[in-house]
Amino acid sequence: MSQVIELKSHPLVSHNLVILRSKDTDSQRFREAAQRLSNMVLVAATESLNAVEQAVETPMKTTTEMVVAEDIWFIPILRAGLAMVDEGLRLIPEAHVGIVGLYRDEETLQPQTYYKNLPDFTRSAHSCFIVDPMLATGGSACAAIDILKEYGATDLSLLTLISAPEGIKEVFSKHPDISIFTASVDEGLNDIGYIIPGLGDAGDRYFGT
Ligand code: PRP
Ligand code: URA
Repeated sequence: MSQVIELKSHPLVSHNLVILRSKDTDSQRFREAAQRLSNMVLVAATESLNAVEQAVETPMKTTTEMVVAEDIWFIPILRAGLAMVDEGLRLIPEAHVGIVGLYRDEETLQPQTYYKNLPDFTRSAHSCFIVDPMLATGGSACAAIDILKEYGATDLSLLTLISAPEGIKEVFSKHPDISIFTASVDEGLNDIGYIIPGLGDAGDRYFGT
């Protein structure tokens, strides 16, 4: 079902967005803020995972809790998507990681695929979380979703830190079955496809290039 969940009204999300956006934030602090924000987006996005009851014996009594009952896949879109994967694996150590390597041609803004390492998703029940800090024109996200669907993925969500309304519209028009979880929906794109106010180039800032 197409829905966009924006988390910016949470004070800790907004607080970390200030650090992420500021042109004075160095790579180390940028990475730390990106990881904290990724954690908050991931917690929101995993709220409705399929879970089953499991008994657990405490020192006091036996009780029940819910445990995740499906395969979880994190799919970073290289390279900036790597910024969100470690936090995902910290939250769900049993999760798997599949990779889609894409970059946006700087002239045409069209996504170019250069790497794929994905399983056959038809083999088991799964939830796939595509992670990429930036959703700008939506070209990269749509290309990644197309590829994942070719591999049989059915339960897909897109997790970002900053999204442009243009990218959200593009994803929903091509893939109305996707949910988007994002820290912030920004104003829009400038004439060279950068998000305004955004944070600049996420990959360059995260990797210090
Ligand atoms: C950035 C970002 C997204 C893409 C978003 O990656 O991480 O993948 O741009 O733009 P779009 O919505 O217009 O497609 P980039 O192409 O800069 O590659 P990088 O992650 O290797 O730096
Ligand atoms: N990719 C980025 O890293 N930043 C933008 O503003 C747009 C695409």
